[in-house]
Amino acid sequence: MTECILRMRQITKRFGEVIANSEVNLDVEKGEAHALLGENGAGKSTLMNCLYGMYDSYEGEIYFDGKLERVSDPKRAIALGIGMVHQHFMLIPVLTVVENVVLGLKDNKELLDLRGAADKFERLGKKYNMVIDPWARVETLSVGQQQRVEILKALYRDARLLILDEPTAVLTPGEIEGLFEMIAALKNEGRTVIFISHKLNEIMRVCDRCTVLRQGRVEATVRVDEVRDREHLAALMVGREVELQTVKAPCQPGEERLVVEHLAALNDLGLPAVRDMSFAIRGGEILGICGVDGNGQSEMVQCLTGLRRTTGGRILIGGKDATGYSVRQILREGLSHIPEDRHKFGMIGAMNIEENFILVSYREELYSRRGLLNWRWIGKHSASLVDSYNVKTPTAKEEAKNLSGGNQQKMVVARELDRGPKLLIAVHPSRGLDIGATKYIQSQIIKQRDNGAAVMMVSTELDELMELSDRILVMYEGENMGVLTQGEATREKLGALMAGIRARPGA
Ligand SMILES: Nc1ncnc2c1ncn2[C@@H]1O[C@H](COP(=O)(O)OP(=O)(O)OP(=O)(O)O)[C@@H](O)[C@H]1O
Ligand SMILES: [Mg+2]
Repeated sequence: MTECILRMRQITKRFGEVIANSEVNLDVEKGEAHALLGENGAGKSTLMNCLYGMYDSYEGEIYFDGKLERVSDPKRAIALGIGMVHQHFMLIPVLTVVENVVLGLKDNKELLDLRGAADKFERLGKKYNMVIDPWARVETLSVGQQQRVEILKALYRDARLLILDEPTAVLTPGEIEGLFEMIAALKNEGRTVIFISHKLNEIMRVCDRCTVLRQGRVEATVRVDEVRDREHLAALMVGREVELQTVKAPCQPGEERLVVEHLAALNDLGLPAVRDMSFAIRGGEILGICGVDGNGQSEMVQCLTGLRRTTGGRILIGGKDATGYSVRQILREGLSHIPEDRHKFGMIGAMNIEENFILVSYREELYSRRGLLNWRWIGKHSASLVDSYNVKTPTAKEEAKNLSGGNQQKMVVARELDRGPKLLIAVHPSRGLDIGATKYIQSQIIKQRDNGAAVMMVSTELDELMELSDRILVMYEGENMGVLTQGEATREKLGALMAGIRARPGA
């Protein structure tokens, strides 16, 4: 029989009335990649947080290497050889990479010998093909690079079991390949990986077995090579058959709602990020923005939403010159924005769901009367939004930070779509969402389009872009590489443009 590095027995974890995990049994074999799959709020992160000692108490037993352990502190977990990369990273932005790596090590030697620590870190990076400058400040790194730091930090502590909580949600396709290679290398060394993802094809590719959680309970553990198809996994997770197809009527474009002319902007380092960008979106149409992350998409969205100064060109919203408008002025023109970083710009964790719902609209008619907030209406309306977007929470009075990752995203999307935008700018709208929620949000975006909104959707996921967009604009190094209609777009054509290769005229 294969050796189990980890056995979790009858794990139950409650938060007040909420039972996040209920009598969970999980066996993980040494050297395997084991997936955890389940809907948003099914209890995946909570189970792994128990294992990593993030809570001071849980019911049940954890056996590591055959020994019963009480893991009530991450220090204990690390000492056992457990490493975790959280769904939301935990690095300190103003410190350097190497400072973050040695932070919290029990042996202060390394704090004094940063040079030596940096050398060891660099060697690890080379070994796993994930080179990162140890002296860079974390805040200057891309999300993908920060994740590498988190992984290398765990390996620096010699993790034998590495927990990756939705590691691919924020990665580009190239980075995902790199991560998969690393997982294979770790397995070769006899290390074990627990991999959380909503993407069934990823699980089918890198994992040996998969445990499905539903509403805090284990539904099944299956061998991945025995799984018939994606639909089968999806059905286990949701408890019924799920429709994975998207239905979309042909586009009925109206007036030009957003016009961008020769737009230029700089990035945070003062270098050109958006160059001579021109395009238009009509009401009733979805324009997908496609490109490898870091090619000016974020900066362009920030210009369009009033968060970044432009250095050239014009932005017209509904025919009006909106260049240089503040956030509030742009909102007044009917913009809804699903931001890239929901934690920084999308929500306030310490506020409850109702308060988060009214963050943007609190000046509007229904929400306030004569300067006073109309709480009765807000309460009723919030409850109906929570219901229709299926935000998993005991009540709308729950603090946003207690929601699971995907449910926070649903909250932000619900608020932005509920405003009935004329212009919707959605950045990675389905990031972190389970299959069912993704389909629902996509159908709601299509509904906004059919109601006449002009929609700009930024995504790094080609499948999502090709399914939803009426036209797709490819960005490369801040430039518009070309626009393809939904009918023209193929993975190959988009891939070439994303790599900066322009189609030959007539080709
Ligand atoms: N600190 C907390 N306080 C109260 N409730 C919590 C807390 N942490 C988690 N929960 C609740 O526990 C349940 C499970 O959450 P968890 O984060 O484990 O889900 P998940 O499976 O990781 O979902 P996702 O795919 O969205 O990340 C949710 O209902 C969530 O609201
Ligand atoms: Mg989670």
